[in-house]
Amino acid sequence: MTKAVTFVIFGATGHLSRTKLIPSLAKVIAREDLSAHAVIGVGSRDRSSEDFMALVKASLSTAQVDTEVSERFLSGSFSYHAVSDERSYDDLASHVERIEAAEALPANRLLYLAVPPSKLDATVVGIAASGLKSGKGWTRLVVEKPFGTDLASAVRSNDIIHATFAEDQVYRIDHFLGKETVRNLLVFRFTNSLFEQTWNRRHIESVEITVAESLGVDGRAAYFDESGTVRDMLQNHLTQILTLIAMEPPAVMDAASIHSEKVKVLSAVRPIPADDVVLGRYGSGSIGGESVAGYLDEPGVSDGSLTPTFVAARMNIDNWRWHGVPFYLRTGKRMSRRTSLVTVRYLRPPICLFHREGDCRGHQNVLTLRLQPDEGFELLIDVKQPGPGAMIGQIPLAVSYDDILESAPDAYETLLADVIWGDQTLFVRSDEVEAAWKLYDPLLDRSDIHTYPAGSNGPESADRLIVTEPGVWTAI
Ligand SMILES: NC(=O)c1ccc[n+]([C@@H]2O[C@H](COP(=O)([O-])OP(=O)(O)OC[C@H]3O[C@@H](n4cnc5c(N)ncnc54)[C@H](OP(=O)(O)O)[C@@H]3O)[C@@H](O)[C@H]2O)c1
Repeated sequence: MTKAVTFVIFGATGHLSRTKLIPSLAKVIAREDLSAHAVIGVGSRDRSSEDFMALVKASLSTAQVDTEVSERFLSGSFSYHAVSDERSYDDLASHVERIEAAEALPANRLLYLAVPPSKLDATVVGIAASGLKSGKGWTRLVVEKPFGTDLASAVRSNDIIHATFAEDQVYRIDHFLGKETVRNLLVFRFTNSLFEQTWNRRHIESVEITVAESLGVDGRAAYFDESGTVRDMLQNHLTQILTLIAMEPPAVMDAASIHSEKVKVLSAVRPIPADDVVLGRYGSGSIGGESVAGYLDEPGVSDGSLTPTFVAARMNIDNWRWHGVPFYLRTGKRMSRRTSLVTVRYLRPPICLFHREGDCRGHQNVLTLRLQPDEGFELLIDVKQPGPGAMIGQIPLAVSYDDILESAPDAYETLLADVIWGDQTLFVRSDEVEAAWKLYDPLLDRSDIHTYPAGSNGPESADRLIVTEPGVWTAI
């Protein structure tokens, strides 16, 4: 089946569009074999369509998009339109209609909102008041993360969106959900009976989720200083991984059933006591042998900023499967290296049959799911060391995705294709986003922020959160 789509990208000149969205769109249009397409870039500042086209070409070139793919993309219709007041949305709608008529497009409209979070509501209101909201074909609204800055703003944005769009037209993006390794989590859990049967409190001692970045604010200080790591990472990326690790199998593998199971997990998370959370901010330090400035000295960070760049939390899920199993979540900037991983620690055997002297606790089976980079997984198992006696050693059963996958599509490619085909499975439903905010709202105004050196793995005080063996966070 071929498809023709009108892409209206609000925020088409921003960092996300230039670095991710435009190159991914080019690849998706080729991969999904769209029969025709138009791209209308929208911003708040006046620019010519020629300037926009130059930006698109530069973005394709920087991302080293294949020439054939780029040419196919650029053969579509490209234009730019600025919006300011309500009337300019009407003008934009007329512009889009003219292009659809000229290009004989069926008016399947993908409205992508890659605008700063503070502009989301006004943009939706502008769209709602104009003819943009109703093309002759389908209309789908894609909203970037973070969705809201707290519970109240997320509820407000949902209300504003729902005043015009049905939930099945809304695609709230969390690009972690488009990553091949994150998509694999449900397959890994529910198709391997070895894991399916042991994925519960009777076999698992603790679960740890780490998303570590070695980058600092990466030229986006103005955005990050307003949002901070609880809003930027914990409320969305880490929480999405948590729900996929902890959810029950859905009755059927469709978007609605999966979303409902994820919401049930979030509803079962016990309110997080203040003592079970440690916030941090990086000071100066060194990463990869290079000296880097502390957060407060980064250009663009406000004087006396109380924005955390690190958060670690111990969480408990009060349901049948997970009662008593701590979930440790940790994320931060300027940590020793970039990695995202899930560590599942299994309970030890009840008695110690082998070496009965000394430390008789034995080892743990530890399953590590590496989400990025070096994607793959590893299971530590005990084996007898060769030779006399019964010395026990641990060896990893390891799989690297590099060995089994030629190349995985980028998360944005996967997600854009899903929007085009109308599959909401990898997106976040309105009640899910609100349930996540409910958990983290109490953390947003805290000012007890511990400094950690850049290049470390966060403040040492975060170690006290680990109440199970080995008593420290997984080395990264
Ligand atoms: N950058 C990333 O790596 C990244 C990653 C994940 C999620 N996101 C999310 O993506 C969104 C955009 O981030 P960004 O980094 O691309 O921001 P950015 O670099 O600041 O770009 C913002 C874009 O929005 C446009 N814009 C501002 N006000 C507007 C309005 N009222 N109507 C229409 N367009 C408007 C700007 O155009 P003008 O200059 O013309 O105003 C610009 O194109 C944010 O929600 C962010 O959280 C970004």
